[in-house]
Amino acid sequence: MRYNPHHRPPPTAGSTMPAITDTTEWAAVARLHATLADTHLRQLFADDPDRGGRLHGTVGDLYVDVAKHRLTDEVLDALVALAAAAGVPEKVAAMFAGEPINTTEDRAVLHTALRAPRDTSIVVDGHDVIPDVHAVLDRMAAFAERVRGGEWRGHDGRPIETVVNIGIGGSDLGPAMAYRALAAHATMDCRFVSNVDAADLSRNLAGLDPATTLFVIASKTFTTIETITNASSARDWLLEGLGGDRGAIPKHFVALSTNAEGVADFGIDTDNMFEFWDWVGGRYSVGSAIGLSVMLAIGPDGFRDFLGGMRTVDEHLRDTPLRENVPVLLAMIGIWYRNFFGFPTHAVLPYSHDLARFPAYLQQLDMESNGKRVGLDGQPVTTDTGPIVWGEPGTNGQHAFYQLIHQGTTTVPCDLIGIVTPDVDLPADTARSHADQLIANLLAQGEALAFGKTAEEVRAEGVDEALVAHKTFPGNIPTTTILADRLTPSVLGQLIALYEHRVLVQGAVWGINSFDQWGVELGKVLAKRIVAEIDGADGDHDSSTAMLLQRYRDARLQ
Ligand code: F6P
Repeated sequence: MRYNPHHRPPPTAGSTMPAITDTTEWAAVARLHATLADTHLRQLFADDPDRGGRLHGTVGDLYVDVAKHRLTDEVLDALVALAAAAGVPEKVAAMFAGEPINTTEDRAVLHTALRAPRDTSIVVDGHDVIPDVHAVLDRMAAFAERVRGGEWRGHDGRPIETVVNIGIGGSDLGPAMAYRALAAHATMDCRFVSNVDAADLSRNLAGLDPATTLFVIASKTFTTIETITNASSARDWLLEGLGGDRGAIPKHFVALSTNAEGVADFGIDTDNMFEFWDWVGGRYSVGSAIGLSVMLAIGPDGFRDFLGGMRTVDEHLRDTPLRENVPVLLAMIGIWYRNFFGFPTHAVLPYSHDLARFPAYLQQLDMESNGKRVGLDGQPVTTDTGPIVWGEPGTNGQHAFYQLIHQGTTTVPCDLIGIVTPDVDLPADTARSHADQLIANLLAQGEALAFGKTAEEVRAEGVDEALVAHKTFPGNIPTTTILADRLTPSVLGQLIALYEHRVLVQGAVWGINSFDQWGVELGKVLAKRIVAEIDGADGDHDSSTAMLLQRYRDARLQ
């Protein structure tokens, strides 16, 4: 089956497929929006007091409440009809089938194959990729067991104590987020270096002994300048610390990449390379070899559970009717706010300190995927695409930016993510009392954001009239609440896949390619040119950049 983009086809094709915004399904949602735009969540709950008992879904271990959204069942029906009109089911099927839905790079998009069972088969260009996936997973597992068991020895015969992952973007954010999220399950110390700022490498190497350090160089392309620069400096640090014997490199460096030639050129033995494939996008790669540092930390069984969690949501996406399909519903609710209400941002607020890096991870996942301004046909899109995604863990955010969410002039739809039982090393009653506080805050915020506090309620408390407006909360701020019992590897995998598929569905509705990232290229090219100019090459810049460059040259490290 070929994916048939609903969006306008290339001009040469001469088809008359309408833009999504020209469809009757879009118009139907717009009409509902016109009737509901001014309806307060207070009203929606008054009219439909049991909506909390009805407007929720489950996927795997995730309970997902969507009752505090500014919508009715009729809106959900219309949004689901819009998803169908946009070809979401066909897009989902095309992705799972390995069709080249990344059209600008002519690639399949198969992160779902990374977590598919061993006995399945997905054929890309005449080749079944599933045996390859499991062969790499098996090699990773064998390697991880050797490192974790102390069998893998460093140059002077000592076992590895610390793993340093060097990578950036998808080769950092996923594993770094997952390592932190699964800290309670980790039995190996891992550090993550991404920024070309030497401070990142320097701070992370502080206190490490080269003889017991393993560098995992994670780069899909193995050309990313930040990663190659950091990896080269790490190699110098290692060689200096171990007396300059290059024979130490194979014992202290492994690579995760699709580029065997680049890995070999760098000096890493390709026997120590864990492969993945061009059909794994960087921001979708944490379940591939890119997750090796996570596997080293939590062990192969834990990593399999992590993949299993993703698979649970993959199967749910693939097999569940649109109206009950949790990632589809979340995606369409996002479309409702982005395109019909015009809300520009989306906050992800985990009430779980272990998920502190989850919003940063989602920023790449969502914004690199759906931050697009042309459709699959290269024509400008006819409506807004991806929102600005941001967030910090609660309760910290409450004492920082929630003021704006409660009383500012921009409506910010929020996801509140709660973990009922944190895995902590504290007496049970201490842990419980913290968890009670944490979840009480999550629930309180959901209520406060939805219902606010009217001027009448403020006055009834005897507040001075001059302060009534200041103490009034408008409410009507929508939230999705996601609850899970524990942050296990499986649950983390489920959360990741839930958001991955939300991004896929939204991209399908907008008719964009969620799997390329041409927008990161220009800055890379200019930076390369400027590096040469710092060292004396001629350049041609605007007066502002020229002045700044000269200032840097005058002050730089000699
Ligand atoms: O610059 C963006 C990007 O290409 C991301 O998409 C990717 O995750 C990151 O760089 C790192 O790329 P690589 O894994 O090839 O080093």
